[in-house]
Amino acid sequence: MDGTPGMHRLEVEDFTVGYGAAPIVKNVSLAVQAGTVTSIIGPNGAGKSTLAKAVVGLIKPMGGRLKVDGVDLSGRTPERLARSGIGYVPQVMNVFPSLTVRENLEMGCFLRRSKTRHRLDAVFTMFPDLRSAAKRDAWTLSGGQRSMLAIGRALMPEPNVLVLDEPTAGLAPRFQTSVWEHVRTVAGLGLAVLAIEQNARLALSNSEQACVLVLGEVRRRGPGEELLADPELVSLYIGGGDGGRSLHAERTA
Ligand SMILES: Nc1ncnc2c1ncn2[C@@H]1O[C@H](COP(=O)(O)OP(=O)(O)OP(=O)(O)O)[C@@H](O)[C@H]1O
Ligand SMILES: [Mg+2]
Repeated sequence: MDGTPGMHRLEVEDFTVGYGAAPIVKNVSLAVQAGTVTSIIGPNGAGKSTLAKAVVGLIKPMGGRLKVDGVDLSGRTPERLARSGIGYVPQVMNVFPSLTVRENLEMGCFLRRSKTRHRLDAVFTMFPDLRSAAKRDAWTLSGGQRSMLAIGRALMPEPNVLVLDEPTAGLAPRFQTSVWEHVRTVAGLGLAVLAIEQNARLALSNSEQACVLVLGEVRRRGPGEELLADPELVSLYIGGGDGGRSLHAERTA
Protein backbone atom coordinates (compact mmCIF):
# COMPACT_ATOMS: atom_id res chain seq x y z
CA MET A 1 0.00 0.00 0.00
CA ASP A 2 2.85 2.37 -0.71
CA GLY A 3 0.87 4.08 -3.42
CA THR A 4 3.04 3.17 -6.40
CA PRO A 5 0.68 1.59 -8.90
CA GLY A 6 1.78 -0.97 -11.41
CA MET A 7 5.14 -1.81 -9.87
CA HIS A 8 4.43 -4.66 -7.55
CA ARG A 9 5.85 -8.11 -7.74
CA LEU A 10 5.03 -11.05 -5.49
CA GLU A 11 7.66 -13.71 -4.99
CA VAL A 12 7.27 -16.99 -3.17
CA GLU A 13 10.59 -18.76 -2.81
CA ASP A 14 10.85 -22.39 -1.87
CA PHE A 15 7.77 -22.43 0.37
CA THR A 16 7.24 -25.50 2.51
CA VAL A 17 4.02 -25.37 4.51
CA GLY A 18 2.13 -27.75 6.76
CA TYR A 19 -0.10 -27.92 9.79
CA GLY A 20 1.97 -30.38 11.79
CA ALA A 21 5.20 -32.24 11.22
CA ALA A 22 4.33 -33.35 7.69
CA PRO A 23 4.59 -30.72 4.97
CA ILE A 24 1.53 -30.28 2.75
CA VAL A 25 3.12 -27.78 0.33
CA LYS A 26 6.67 -28.66 -0.66
CA ASN A 27 9.33 -26.31 -2.04
CA VAL A 28 6.97 -24.20 -4.10
CA SER A 29 8.41 -21.14 -5.83
CA LEU A 30 6.51 -18.70 -7.97
CA ALA A 31 6.64 -15.07 -9.01
CA VAL A 32 3.73 -12.87 -10.01
CA GLN A 33 4.48 -9.68 -11.93
CA ALA A 34 2.46 -6.51 -11.56
CA GLY A 35 -0.51 -6.38 -13.87
CA THR A 36 -0.58 -10.12 -14.44
CA VAL A 37 -2.44 -13.16 -13.13
CA THR A 38 -0.80 -16.39 -12.03
CA SER A 39 -3.21 -19.27 -11.48
CA ILE A 40 -2.79 -22.32 -9.32
CA ILE A 41 -4.79 -25.29 -10.46
CA GLY A 42 -4.74 -28.81 -9.08
CA PRO A 43 -6.88 -31.55 -7.56
CA ASN A 44 -8.78 -31.35 -4.27
CA GLY A 45 -6.45 -31.57 -1.32
CA ALA A 46 -3.35 -30.67 -3.37
CA GLY A 47 -2.50 -27.86 -0.96
CA LYS A 48 -3.74 -24.85 -2.95
CA SER A 49 -5.55 -23.19 -0.04
CA THR A 50 -2.67 -24.06 2.27
CA LEU A 51 -0.31 -22.22 -0.07
CA ALA A 52 -2.66 -19.23 -0.25
CA LYS A 53 -2.97 -19.08 3.53
CA ALA A 54 0.81 -19.12 3.91
CA VAL A 55 1.20 -16.30 1.35
CA VAL A 56 -1.15 -14.09 3.39
CA GLY A 57 0.50 -15.06 6.69
CA LEU A 58 -2.26 -17.19 8.22
CA ILE A 59 0.07 -20.19 8.39
CA LYS A 60 3.75 -19.77 9.14
CA PRO A 61 5.75 -21.67 6.54
CA MET A 62 8.28 -24.26 7.71
CA GLY A 63 10.67 -22.91 5.13
CA GLY A 64 10.98 -20.43 2.31
CA ARG A 65 10.71 -16.71 1.75
CA LEU A 66 7.98 -14.26 0.79
CA LYS A 67 8.85 -11.03 -0.99
CA VAL A 68 6.89 -8.10 -2.35
CA ASP A 69 8.85 -5.75 -4.59
CA GLY A 70 12.00 -7.53 -3.49
CA VAL A 71 11.38 -6.73 0.19
CA ASP A 72 11.53 -9.80 2.39
CA LEU A 73 8.25 -10.08 4.30
CA SER A 74 8.77 -13.64 5.54
CA GLY A 75 7.32 -14.42 8.95
CA ARG A 76 5.13 -11.33 9.15
CA THR A 77 1.67 -11.51 10.71
CA PRO A 78 -1.43 -11.41 8.48
CA GLU A 79 -2.06 -7.86 9.64
CA ARG A 80 1.45 -6.72 8.75
CA LEU A 81 1.16 -8.38 5.36
CA ALA A 82 -2.21 -6.72 4.79
CA ARG A 83 -0.62 -3.39 5.69
CA SER A 84 2.17 -4.21 3.25
CA GLY A 85 -0.46 -4.46 0.52
CA ILE A 86 -1.37 -8.13 0.32
CA GLY A 87 -5.13 -8.63 -0.12
CA TYR A 88 -6.89 -11.97 0.31
CA VAL A 89 -10.21 -13.48 -0.69
CA PRO A 90 -10.62 -16.73 1.29
CA GLN A 91 -12.20 -19.83 -0.23
CA VAL A 92 -15.15 -19.89 2.17
CA MET A 93 -16.85 -17.51 4.59
CA ASN A 94 -15.53 -14.52 2.68
CA VAL A 95 -18.41 -12.13 3.42
CA PHE A 96 -20.37 -11.29 6.57
CA PRO A 97 -23.89 -12.54 5.68
CA SER A 98 -25.75 -10.41 8.22
CA LEU A 99 -24.02 -7.15 7.28
CA THR A 100 -25.12 -5.07 4.33
CA VAL A 101 -23.02 -4.88 1.19
CA ARG A 102 -21.80 -1.44 2.19
CA GLU A 103 -20.95 -2.56 5.73
CA ASN A 104 -19.00 -5.51 4.34
CA LEU A 105 -16.98 -3.15 2.18
CA GLU A 106 -16.40 -0.75 5.06
CA MET A 107 -15.11 -3.66 7.17
CA GLY A 108 -12.60 -4.31 4.41
CA CYS A 109 -11.15 -0.86 4.90
CA PHE A 110 -10.56 -0.94 8.66
CA LEU A 111 -6.82 -0.61 8.11
CA ARG A 112 -7.33 2.65 6.20
CA ARG A 113 -10.37 4.29 7.74
CA SER A 114 -9.73 7.73 6.25
CA LYS A 115 -9.85 6.29 2.76
CA THR A 116 -13.17 4.50 3.15
CA ARG A 117 -15.37 6.89 1.22
CA HIS A 118 -12.96 7.21 -1.69
CA ARG A 119 -12.41 3.45 -1.86
CA LEU A 120 -16.14 2.68 -1.62
CA ASP A 121 -16.65 4.80 -4.67
CA ALA A 122 -13.82 3.07 -6.55
CA VAL A 123 -15.19 -0.39 -5.70
CA PHE A 124 -18.77 0.58 -6.57
CA THR A 125 -17.53 1.89 -9.92
CA MET A 126 -15.85 -1.41 -10.60
CA PHE A 127 -18.88 -3.45 -9.45
CA PRO A 128 -22.02 -1.44 -10.31
CA ASP A 129 -24.20 -4.34 -9.07
CA LEU A 130 -22.81 -3.79 -5.59
CA ARG A 131 -23.70 -0.11 -5.65
CA SER A 132 -27.32 -0.91 -6.41
CA ALA A 133 -27.31 -3.59 -3.68
CA ALA A 134 -25.43 -1.44 -1.15
CA LYS A 135 -28.14 -1.56 1.51
CA ARG A 136 -29.01 -5.23 1.15
CA ASP A 137 -27.81 -7.84 3.61
CA ALA A 138 -25.06 -9.92 2.02
CA TRP A 139 -26.99 -13.17 2.58
CA THR A 140 -29.63 -12.00 0.10
CA LEU A 141 -27.10 -11.75 -2.76
CA SER A 142 -26.76 -14.28 -5.56
CA GLY A 143 -23.61 -16.42 -5.57
CA GLY A 144 -22.09 -14.28 -8.31
CA GLN A 145 -22.79 -11.05 -6.44
CA ARG A 146 -21.35 -12.55 -3.27
CA SER A 147 -18.09 -13.34 -5.08
CA MET A 148 -17.96 -9.78 -6.36
CA LEU A 149 -18.52 -8.53 -2.82
CA ALA A 150 -15.72 -10.70 -1.47
CA ILE A 151 -13.37 -9.36 -4.15
CA GLY A 152 -14.58 -5.80 -3.60
CA ARG A 153 -14.00 -6.12 0.15
CA ALA A 154 -10.42 -7.29 -0.47
CA LEU A 155 -9.83 -4.32 -2.79
CA MET A 156 -11.02 -1.74 -0.26
CA PRO A 157 -7.58 -1.12 1.33
CA GLU A 158 -6.10 -0.70 -2.18
CA PRO A 159 -3.75 -3.70 -2.10
CA ASN A 160 -0.83 -4.22 -4.48
CA VAL A 161 -1.16 -7.97 -4.48
CA LEU A 162 -4.42 -9.95 -4.48
CA VAL A 163 -4.65 -13.61 -3.51
CA LEU A 164 -7.95 -15.22 -4.55
CA ASP A 165 -8.89 -18.70 -3.37
CA GLU A 166 -11.45 -20.21 -5.78
CA PRO A 167 -13.50 -17.08 -6.45
CA THR A 168 -15.81 -19.00 -8.78
CA ALA A 169 -16.54 -22.04 -6.59
CA GLY A 170 -20.16 -23.07 -6.84
CA LEU A 171 -21.05 -20.54 -9.53
CA ALA A 172 -22.82 -21.24 -12.82
CA PRO A 173 -20.50 -20.94 -15.85
CA ARG A 174 -21.67 -17.50 -16.95
CA PHE A 175 -21.02 -16.09 -13.47
CA GLN A 176 -17.62 -17.78 -13.45
CA THR A 177 -16.78 -15.95 -16.68
CA SER A 178 -17.98 -12.69 -15.20
CA VAL A 179 -15.85 -13.13 -12.05
CA TRP A 180 -12.81 -13.70 -14.25
CA GLU A 181 -13.55 -10.58 -16.26
CA HIS A 182 -13.27 -8.75 -12.96
CA VAL A 183 -10.09 -10.60 -12.05
CA ARG A 184 -8.60 -9.36 -15.34
CA THR A 185 -9.77 -5.83 -14.53
CA VAL A 186 -8.03 -6.07 -11.15
CA ALA A 187 -4.79 -7.12 -12.85
CA GLY A 188 -5.31 -4.26 -15.30
CA LEU A 189 -5.11 -1.87 -12.35
CA GLY A 190 -1.52 -3.02 -11.90
CA LEU A 191 -1.96 -5.54 -9.11
CA ALA A 192 -0.09 -8.82 -9.00
CA VAL A 193 -2.87 -11.44 -8.83
CA LEU A 194 -2.46 -14.99 -7.54
CA ALA A 195 -5.65 -16.96 -8.19
CA ILE A 196 -6.60 -20.48 -7.24
CA GLU A 197 -9.23 -21.78 -9.63
CA GLN A 198 -11.00 -25.11 -9.91
CA ASN A 199 -12.08 -24.46 -13.49
CA ALA A 200 -8.77 -25.23 -15.20
CA ARG A 201 -9.82 -24.06 -18.65
CA LEU A 202 -11.06 -20.73 -17.32
CA ALA A 203 -7.90 -20.27 -15.24
CA LEU A 204 -5.48 -21.12 -18.04
CA SER A 205 -7.22 -18.98 -20.62
CA ASN A 206 -7.13 -15.93 -18.32
CA SER A 207 -3.66 -16.20 -16.79
CA GLU A 208 -0.27 -15.06 -17.97
CA GLN A 209 1.25 -17.86 -15.89
CA ALA A 210 -0.11 -20.99 -14.28
CA CYS A 211 1.11 -23.75 -11.98
CA VAL A 212 -0.35 -27.20 -11.62
CA LEU A 213 -0.07 -28.20 -7.97
CA VAL A 214 -0.30 -31.91 -7.24
CA LEU A 215 0.42 -33.40 -3.80
CA GLY A 216 1.85 -30.09 -2.68
CA GLU A 217 4.38 -29.81 -5.48
CA VAL A 218 4.43 -27.85 -8.72
CA ARG A 219 4.06 -30.52 -11.38
CA ARG A 220 3.78 -28.19 -14.38
CA ARG A 221 4.13 -24.49 -14.96
CA GLY A 222 4.10 -22.09 -17.87
CA PRO A 223 2.05 -19.47 -19.67
CA GLY A 224 -1.67 -20.25 -19.33
CA GLU A 225 -2.21 -20.47 -23.09
CA GLU A 226 0.79 -22.79 -23.44
CA LEU A 227 -0.53 -25.22 -20.84
CA LEU A 228 -3.97 -25.04 -22.42
CA ALA A 229 -2.43 -26.05 -25.73
CA ASP A 230 -0.61 -29.02 -24.21
CA PRO A 231 -2.56 -32.15 -25.20
CA GLU A 232 -1.21 -34.22 -22.30
CA LEU A 233 -2.14 -31.63 -19.71
CA VAL A 234 -5.54 -31.11 -21.28
CA SER A 235 -6.31 -34.83 -21.28
CA LEU A 236 -5.08 -35.19 -17.68
CA TYR A 237 -6.60 -32.11 -16.15
CA ILE A 238 -9.21 -30.65 -18.40
CA GLY A 239 -10.67 -33.38 -20.55
CA GLY A 240 -13.55 -33.03 -22.97
CA GLY A 241 -14.83 -29.60 -22.12
CA ASP A 242 -15.89 -30.43 -18.59
CA GLY A 243 -14.47 -27.14 -17.39
CA GLY A 244 -11.73 -28.81 -15.39
CA ARG A 245 -13.77 -31.12 -13.23
CA SER A 246 -11.59 -34.04 -14.22
CA LEU A 247 -8.82 -32.21 -12.41
CA HIS A 248 -10.71 -32.89 -9.24
CA ALA A 249 -11.18 -36.52 -10.12
CA GLU A 250 -7.48 -37.14 -9.63
CA ARG A 251 -7.20 -38.48 -6.11
CA THR A 252 -4.34 -37.37 -3.95
CA ALA A 253 -4.25 -40.59 -1.98
N1 LIG B 1 -6.30 -26.82 9.31
C1 LIG B 1 -5.78 -27.96 8.86
N2 LIG B 1 -5.16 -28.82 9.68
C2 LIG B 1 -4.62 -29.98 9.21
N3 LIG B 1 -4.66 -30.37 7.91
C3 LIG B 1 -5.27 -29.54 7.05
C4 LIG B 1 -5.87 -28.30 7.46
N4 LIG B 1 -6.39 -27.71 6.36
C5 LIG B 1 -6.14 -28.53 5.33
N5 LIG B 1 -5.48 -29.62 5.74
C6 LIG B 1 -5.03 -30.73 4.88
O1 LIG B 1 -4.08 -30.22 3.95
C7 LIG B 1 -4.24 -30.84 2.68
C8 LIG B 1 -4.41 -29.75 1.62
O2 LIG B 1 -5.60 -29.02 1.89
P1 LIG B 1 -5.96 -27.69 1.10
O3 LIG B 1 -7.20 -27.16 1.70
O4 LIG B 1 -4.77 -26.81 1.08
O5 LIG B 1 -6.21 -28.28 -0.36
P2 LIG B 1 -6.83 -27.58 -1.65
O6 LIG B 1 -5.88 -27.86 -2.77
O7 LIG B 1 -7.14 -26.17 -1.35
O8 LIG B 1 -8.16 -28.42 -1.89
P3 LIG B 1 -9.61 -27.95 -2.47
O9 LIG B 1 -9.48 -28.01 -3.96
O10 LIG B 1 -10.53 -29.00 -1.95
O11 LIG B 1 -9.92 -26.58 -1.96
C9 LIG B 1 -5.44 -31.76 2.80
O12 LIG B 1 -4.95 -33.05 3.00
C10 LIG B 1 -6.17 -31.26 4.04
O13 LIG B 1 -6.82 -32.30 4.69
MG1 LIG C 1 -8.82 -25.06 -1.34
